[in-house]
Amino acid sequence: MPSAKRFKRMMSQKDFSCVSSFYFIPAFDKRLQIQGKMGAQVSSILRHLTAYIKTPRLLPSSKVPDVEPVPPARLLRIPTNGEPTALAAFITDATKIVEAHYARSSHPGVPSLNDTDEHPLDQDLNSELRTAIQVIEGACAQLSATVARPEHTIVNIFLQKVMAFVEPTCLGIAITFKIPDVLRGRPGGMHISEIGKKTGLEERKVGRILRLLTSRHVFTEVSENVFANNRLSIRLLSENPLSNMGSCYVEEYQKSTSLLPDILGDKMWGHSYLSTHTAFNKWSLYDGSLFAFMNAPQGLRFKARFDVGMIGWGNACQAHNIVYQFPWKELPDGASVCDLGGGVGNISLQLAKAYPTLKLILQDLPETIQRAKTEVWPEKCPEAIRQKRIEFKTIDFFKESPVAGCNVYLLKNIIHDWPDHDCVTILTNIRKVMEPYSQILIHEYILQNANRVPDEPCAFQQAPQPMLANYGAGRIRQYNLDLCMMAMLNGEERKLADFVRLGEQAGLKFEKLWDLGEMAVVELRLP
Ligand SMILES: C[S@@+](CC[C@H](N)C(=O)[O-])C[C@H]1O[C@@H](n2cnc3c(N)ncnc32)[C@H](O)[C@@H]1O
Repeated sequence: MPSAKRFKRMMSQKDFSCVSSFYFIPAFDKRLQIQGKMGAQVSSILRHLTAYIKTPRLLPSSKVPDVEPVPPARLLRIPTNGEPTALAAFITDATKIVEAHYARSSHPGVPSLNDTDEHPLDQDLNSELRTAIQVIEGACAQLSATVARPEHTIVNIFLQKVMAFVEPTCLGIAITFKIPDVLRGRPGGMHISEIGKKTGLEERKVGRILRLLTSRHVFTEVSENVFANNRLSIRLLSENPLSNMGSCYVEEYQKSTSLLPDILGDKMWGHSYLSTHTAFNKWSLYDGSLFAFMNAPQGLRFKARFDVGMIGWGNACQAHNIVYQFPWKELPDGASVCDLGGGVGNISLQLAKAYPTLKLILQDLPETIQRAKTEVWPEKCPEAIRQKRIEFKTIDFFKESPVAGCNVYLLKNIIHDWPDHDCVTILTNIRKVMEPYSQILIHEYILQNANRVPDEPCAFQQAPQPMLANYGAGRIRQYNLDLCMMAMLNGEERKLADFVRLGEQAGLKFEKLWDLGEMAVVELRLP
C-alpha cells in the first residue's frame, strides 16, 4: 500500500479520489468489531444504505501517521437548522443549471416525459450538467428522508426493496411481452383490451401493471385504461440493448440478490470471497462462477442476452466517454489496444470507428468471441474486418496472458466482477506480457464513502453540505452495482486505494486516475 503521504501527493494531482475511504473504513470496521473481509462486506452494505439515509459519520483512523486527526466535532459540523431549505435551494439552483443547458442545446427546452423523440442531450452530458442532475436526485431523496417521519422512510425503504421488487418485475413483464413495441406508432395510446389481445396478457392485469409503471413515469395513461409510450418506456423497445440488460436484472440478478441475506448469514459462504460461494450459486444451483455458467449449455441464452445487454449498460452510464476523452490520438501510429474481456466489443467497436490507425485485439471467452466475429462486427464495423484492424482471440484470462506487447490493455467492467485474489491473477497475467510502454486501463466505477471529510486530506470533490458527501441517491447506481457484484460473483465496486493495492500486489504501479464522468479509468504501468 502507498504511504498516506504518497497517497495524498498522488491524489492532489487529480480532481477526485477515494482517499477518505482509504483512511476511515478500517477504523469504522474496528468500531463495529468486525474483522477482516467480513468487515469489508458489511462496510459495503452500510455505504449502500447510507446513500439513502444518514448513518453516524465515520471517524478517522488513529493509525494513519501523517494526517492530522480530525476532531469529531469538525466532522459533525453540519447545520441542522435550515437543512431542508438548503437542500431545496440546491434543487432550485441545479434545476436552473439544467434548464440553461437545455435552452442552449440544438433542441431548446427540457423535453417533456411524454416526448418519445431522442433529444441531443440524451447521449451527451457534460460534467456541469451531470453534477446538477446528481444534485437534484440526491438532494430530493435527502430532503424527503429529512422531513418525513422516520418510520415512514424506513418502511418505504423496506417496501421499495422488499415489496417493490414488483417495480422491476413489472418492467421485466413490459420487456418480455414487448409492450413498448406493441405501443409503438400509437401516440394516442391503446386500450388495455387491445394490449391484452396483442400480448396474450389478461387485460385488467396488464392495466394494473401499466398503471404502476406509469406512476413511476414509465408509460403514460392518456385516458382511463388507455396507455401510450413515453420518453422512458421508449428505451425498452426490443431493439434497444438496454432491454436485454433489463431482462438480466429481473431474472438472474434480482432472483439471486433476493437470496443475499441467507448467504451472508451462512457461516461458511457468508465469510467467503470465492466467486462460487454466492447468492447466484444458491439460486442457479450451479457450482461454477456466473461466467462459467454463462458458457455452459444451460447458460448460453443468458450469455447471449448479457453480451448485448452490456452495450445498453455502457450507453446508460456513458461509457463512451473513454472513446472521446482519453488521449488515444497521442498513442503512436499503429498502436495496439487489447480489449481484454471486451465482450462483443462494446468499446473496441467505437474505438475502431473513431481511430482508424489503432490496431485492435478483442479477447474473451470462446462463445462471446464467436458472436463478436460472426454477428456483431460484420454488421456494425465491417470495414475494420476488411482492413484487418481487428483481431478476435479467445482467452481464459485466469489461465493465460493476453497478446504480448500491446500499448494498451483495456479492462472495462472486468475487475469489478471478481474478488481480490482473482483480480491479482488477471493483472499478473497481463503484467507478464507488458513492455515498458504498455499501460493497463481499468475502466469502471470508483466508489466514495458517504461520510464527509475535511477538504484538505480529501482530494475528491464532495457534494456541497448538507448533502451526503458522495451525492447519496444521486450516485446510487454505483452502490446498487456493488451489491449486485457481491450477490453474483463475490466481486465488488472499489475505491481508488483498492485499485492501487491490487496493482501493487500484481507488481504494477498506479500511474494516474482519469475522471471520465460517471465512470473513471485507473491507469497502471510497470514499476
Ligand atoms: C462485465 S462483462 C464486460 C464486457 C465488456 N468489457 C464491456 O464492458 O462491455 C465481463 C466480460 O468478461 C468475460 N470473461 C469472464 N470470464 C472470463 C475469462 N475467464 N476469460 C476471459 N474473459 C472472461 C465475459 O465473457 C464478459 O464478456
